[in-house]
Amino acid sequence: MNDDELTLAQLEADPDPILARLREQAPVVHATQLNLWLVTRWDDVATMDAHPELFSAATEPSFLRRALGVNMLTLDAPEAARLKNAMMPPFQRSGKSGTFAEEVLPQLCDGLIDGFYEEGQADLVSPYAAAVSASSLQIVLGLSDSTWEQVWRWCEGLCADIANFDNDPAKTALGDVAKVELASAIDVRIEALQKVSNDTAIAHMLSVDASGSPLTREEIINNVRLMVSGGINEPRDGIGLVCWVLLANGELREEVMSSPKLWRRLVDEVMRLHSPVGTITRQTTQEVELSGTTIPEGALVAGVLRSANHDERRFREPMKLDLHRTEGGHAAFALGQHRCLGEWLGRQEIAVGSERLFARLPNLRLAGDVELHGFEFRGPRSLRVKWDA
Ligand code: HEM
Repeated sequence: MNDDELTLAQLEADPDPILARLREQAPVVHATQLNLWLVTRWDDVATMDAHPELFSAATEPSFLRRALGVNMLTLDAPEAARLKNAMMPPFQRSGKSGTFAEEVLPQLCDGLIDGFYEEGQADLVSPYAAAVSASSLQIVLGLSDSTWEQVWRWCEGLCADIANFDNDPAKTALGDVAKVELASAIDVRIEALQKVSNDTAIAHMLSVDASGSPLTREEIINNVRLMVSGGINEPRDGIGLVCWVLLANGELREEVMSSPKLWRRLVDEVMRLHSPVGTITRQTTQEVELSGTTIPEGALVAGVLRSANHDERRFREPMKLDLHRTEGGHAAFALGQHRCLGEWLGRQEIAVGSERLFARLPNLRLAGDVELHGFEFRGPRSLRVKWDA
């Protein structure tokens, strides 16, 4: 089935009514103008993620590979698994991320809040959430010669090139600068760590024996590029979304403030409902049938995580934010082999980054309209607030 009308601009402006219509009427559809198949029901997205032999991450063309070089998200098993298993430990609770979240993150947030407290008003997305997010990744990776602003600019440059669907040379140039500068920053760290090692993620990558062979310099650089391009926008959007949801809903705010252990559930439910990462993109390795529709071999297919997370077939009243859901997990961090490597760290950034604001800023309230934008990456562009300083 084809949808000849649907455009990216429509999806970016207001995706949910479109996705609801597709789930109901055309759950597997070729969006002609996007030259992409869209898969919108939970079961079908889960099937995509569970069958990498049918839905390959090694797509051709690949904007991700072009912008960053070959990395784990542009490969299938066993190569993808080799890289992920080798690089994951510092991003879990038992690694660098665990000590960072416990010993550094709350003070990092408080220090940023101290910087604007007296002003009585701020935009919580930028610089606050952006700074929490970029600093966290910078510290866990161990890019200690760079500032968070620098890491943020690399993220922006790489993302511009990843989304450079119309081959704009200006965006390629931005991506190239970020690519080269980040590679040299990593080289400097590699040289220093070869003399004195530490507990950071890059040090771990240098020391790890990845299924019988060390990681190469190129593997480390390309995958750190993937982390910088993918691991900063989402926690930033997550902090913005959690704060917005609480500020816009007095009853929910009261419930969470009176029972702080609900904060983690709130983060989880906001991730489901607002799914800051819209899709996973794969390519069919053969003709595949999903929900009665045949997708040809070699087709690019977007499994729409946002839509799977809103599927009435899995979630009761899916558009309602409900801290007491019992239906099971959601797909905001994806489901299969390529499920997010930074999920644990990202959840801590969002929980602590939002919780510190409500703990520190008295009578915190919205000070303007909030506009959500984006499809692939969706979050508030800004979140203007006031408090009684
Ligand atoms: C907290 C918000 C975050 C969200 C919602 C999120 C979401 C996702 C999703 C949906 C994927 C799967 C992409 C696909 O299959 O095509 C993914 C993969 C990935 N994420 Fe995250 N992410 C977040 C934070 C982070 C952070 C903080 C890092 C830092 C390292 C990170 C690093 C990665 C990497 C390296 C992959 C590729 C994993 C693989 O190919 O196996 N993410 N993320």
